[in-house]
Amino acid sequence: MRRVTVAGDKPYEVVIGPGATAELGTVLAGTARAVVVHAPPLAAVAGAAVETLQTAGVAAEALVVPDGEAAKTADVAAGLWEEFGRLRLTRSDAVVGIGGGAVTDLAGFVAATWTRGVRVVQVPTSVLGMVDAAVGGKTGINTRAGKNLVGSFHPPTAVLADTDVLAGLPDAEFRSGMAEVVKCGFIADAVVLDLLEADPSGRRDTEELMERAVRVKADAVAEDLYDVGRREFLNYGHTLGHAIERVEDFRWRHGEAVAVGLVFAAELGGQAGLLSRAEVDRHRSLLEAMGLPTRYAGDWAQLQSVMRVDKKARGSSLRFVVLDGLGNPTILTDPDQAWLDAAWAAVSSTHPATPASEEQP
Ligand SMILES: NC(=O)c1ccc[n+]([C@@H]2O[C@H](COP(=O)([O-])OP(=O)(O)OC[C@H]3O[C@@H](n4cnc5c(N)ncnc54)[C@H](O)[C@@H]3O)[C@@H](O)[C@H]2O)c1
Repeated sequence: MRRVTVAGDKPYEVVIGPGATAELGTVLAGTARAVVVHAPPLAAVAGAAVETLQTAGVAAEALVVPDGEAAKTADVAAGLWEEFGRLRLTRSDAVVGIGGGAVTDLAGFVAATWTRGVRVVQVPTSVLGMVDAAVGGKTGINTRAGKNLVGSFHPPTAVLADTDVLAGLPDAEFRSGMAEVVKCGFIADAVVLDLLEADPSGRRDTEELMERAVRVKADAVAEDLYDVGRREFLNYGHTLGHAIERVEDFRWRHGEAVAVGLVFAAELGGQAGLLSRAEVDRHRSLLEAMGLPTRYAGDWAQLQSVMRVDKKARGSSLRFVVLDGLGNPTILTDPDQAWLDAAWAAVSSTHPATPASEEQP
């Protein structure tokens, strides 16, 4: 089993490996009651978790919520609070979230708010959940005004990333989650890039890739739980990625939109003279080999206006994470319009732009 500690006021472990769910019994030993929140596709995993907890002497009950984003609503959260009341869940009890990032976000949020905070143990079952959503303590639900606008910082007691459950995850979801892994490679850990170049499916080295990606996130979060500094680097590729998700009405998978965003951010770094042509091309070729999209033909004016109102934008300025060389993220604020247009041309056409630094006089 691989273990990564996320430092902070209350440090916790991310356990990665086959059968990690079985650690629920030790993590929650001595707890009187636990509620296991899951969506229908994860019923078998939740059933096994309830059994493990009961064997450990914890009175456990499973509660089913809708699948995917349909779980992240105020109505579903309110339904869970009612159930918690019925079960007399107290502050010394615990919530267990089992599922993709949508369910772990919801479970974390209801745990953060019930009696002003009960423990949550996250059992992420998608790649995205394991390396991103369940790690770091951000929880939330959606409103009509936008995604994740209501939420709380509520770090988990433990994260159990059971790689056995990935066997049931649809291929497209696995690939999409890998976009966050490769992002960690570009911003902080070149070994991730080497491993994915050797096996772009990510299947051969899944556990090592996850451990490395979780370490990158853990390092950023430990220094910046409240997302005011270093954590922003995790947003590499996300400024355009989020805009594509919005414009496409969230029909694109998050990782697919981020993949296009990564190429855009790399091209922008190239335009700024911070990345070489070869480094920019490495983004495109690796993402393509992984089966992720690297091109997107959309309405550039619309995307730019969406980027300006991104939740993570500050004021009305446009901020991008770019790389000043691989592994060295930095922030570019209000880049030259010509750089933005050239980076856009490179992701929206079949002819990559030439970085400004390499243009012939
Ligand atoms: N809190 C954070 O820091 C953070 C970070 C990134 C993303 N998120 C959130 O994560 C969510 C996206 O997460 P996601 O990509 O995991 O999507 P998801 O939770 O919608 O899951 C995708 C689909 O895969 C299914 N699934 C998951 N694991 C499975 C398994 N092992 N076997 C079979 N089916 C399985 C789910 O039931 C669902 O149908 C978004 O709501 C996003 O806002 C949160």
